[in-house]
Amino acid sequence: MCGIVGYTGSKEAYPIIIKGLKRLEYRGYDSTGVALQNGRLKVYKKKGKVAELEDSLVGKNLHAHVGIGHTRWATHGEPNDRNAHPHSSASGKLAMIHNGIIENYAQLKQELIRKGYSFKSDTDTEVLLNFIEDIKTNNECSLEEAVRIALKRVVGAYVILLLDESMPDTIIAARKGSPLVIGIGKGEHFLGSDASPMLEYTKEVVYVNDYELAIIRPDELILKNLGNEKITPYVQKLDLELAAIEKGGYDHFMLKEIFEQPQTIYDCLRGRLDANAGTITMSGIQKYAEQIMNATRIIMVACGTSWHAGLVAEYIFEELCRINVEVEYASEFRYRNPVINPGDVIIAISQSGETADTLVAIETAKAKGAIILGVVNVVGSSIARVSHAGAYTHAGPEIGVASTKAFTAQLAVLTMIALKIAHDKGTISKERYMHLLNELNEVPEKVTRVLELSDHIKKLAEKYKDATDALYLGRGFNFPVALEGALKLKEISYIHAEGYPAAEMKHGPIALVDEKLPVIFVATKDSYHEKVVSNMQEIKARKGKLIAVITEGDDTTAAICNDVMAIPEADEVIAPILSAIPMQLLAYYIGVAKGYDVDKPRNLAKSVTVE
Ligand code: M6R
Repeated sequence: MCGIVGYTGSKEAYPIIIKGLKRLEYRGYDSTGVALQNGRLKVYKKKGKVAELEDSLVGKNLHAHVGIGHTRWATHGEPNDRNAHPHSSASGKLAMIHNGIIENYAQLKQELIRKGYSFKSDTDTEVLLNFIEDIKTNNECSLEEAVRIALKRVVGAYVILLLDESMPDTIIAARKGSPLVIGIGKGEHFLGSDASPMLEYTKEVVYVNDYELAIIRPDELILKNLGNEKITPYVQKLDLELAAIEKGGYDHFMLKEIFEQPQTIYDCLRGRLDANAGTITMSGIQKYAEQIMNATRIIMVACGTSWHAGLVAEYIFEELCRINVEVEYASEFRYRNPVINPGDVIIAISQSGETADTLVAIETAKAKGAIILGVVNVVGSSIARVSHAGAYTHAGPEIGVASTKAFTAQLAVLTMIALKIAHDKGTISKERYMHLLNELNEVPEKVTRVLELSDHIKKLAEKYKDATDALYLGRGFNFPVALEGALKLKEISYIHAEGYPAAEMKHGPIALVDEKLPVIFVATKDSYHEKVVSNMQEIKARKGKLIAVITEGDDTTAAICNDVMAIPEADEVIAPILSAIPMQLLAYYIGVAKGYDVDKPRNLAKSVTVE
């Protein structure tokens, strides 16, 4: 994780870096720092968010045309001023920022200690920096050469940006496993963990690949591999507007993103789904359509909310396509030497496309011969690039740390893929296929109606905000929605919440139920409904507070609940896209009512690029 920014050109570097860091704070926000190059290297860093560093620097002379900045999500060493980046080398002549983890840092550190080095921080970054400086000094070589030599010994993941006092206009950058984008301006270059820091300056970007090293000056971008061979930078046009990464009048990104869902789902369906013609066109998977259709097994790999989308998809694929589906936590899948058989297809689901666990899991499966299909939001991200085929979710930048619009877009894409396979395989009747196409087509309009519940849910949030625990229950297609509801509440409000299959609740969690426990059911009208209502009765009998997402007009279920959130009727295959939204709003309003920073909840980061 961590966000990195760099600038070299004729403009003042500091304001560009600070603004860029604010946009990248979703990647980590426990400490911040900048290094400015103005004849001498100056480093300013501090525990806390970017705004706190900015406040502490008011009145200082920050004039410089070259600089780097970092917003941290701690891995090695607690969040404090010492461990904040940039780090300075022993001589004070180099400064470096780093996103990632150097796994063999302890060994490198011991080697350096034996040579007489001491360390000011607890970080792996300072070790790598001094390792580079040691190579530079001993070999009397350039910084570029020293970085190359050092990186051949490094185990782990990194994006590093370095400044060298003796090269006043140059930034040296390198990447393996963490994202790095270089923006190309007129006589200037921008660097970032994503393109957001450079949006108002340029639309021309280069995505740096693993094992590449860049030497960046105002008028020059040299890209090389670790073998010192030059690579021609592949310049791409950014299809992203500034407005997409601003709050647009909402109090929080999370609320903006929740309210964007009618549009994001529409964007996701647009050009793919034609309900009148009865077609689904997904050009990104066309080349592998045959293999996907004939897959003997589909394995969904993902983390967090994306894993929940995979769980919903398991129900949908098995129901519609009659293909065996397994849903795996990417982090577990990777480390248990998974069995991959010929004919297995992996669907990797990720908003950021940079989640390290997911990335490593699919690399493992790819090496074993599986076909990888990426369902990814961020265009050009690592997972998108390593996948054989894929479908973007087109939800636009998701900045709030809690995933919302990306989840519903993932569900929309996965549903379309399932419908396409089912249609091509003949495992769905024409009538049901057409019905589901029409249902999917109506989702954006129904989401607009769900969002009208916002004020009502805000009042519920006030009523339940002081709960210390909550239980989320659902069955079938709505079971993963219950898990997602619990995750949202935990992340945003710090209330302990558990998601469970509604029926499984009686095998243990029911012991938690008393008159203080809110139990949130996802109980829309579907083939499981009667059974879910029985589970609700079991909670009611034990005096739990019953809150439920129900289908509009279902007065019978409403009558047994303390509170309900009624959403438009939808086929059970489609319903999770709608039922997830009241969960998002409830978590959001409870988090706000408790006075928390819902866009940047404690200890979290948006893009988890460490394993
Ligand atoms: O970018 P990804 O979808 O791969 O991220 C996976 C999880 O880290 C992410 O969904 C996380 O659980 C969110 N904080 C959930 O709101």
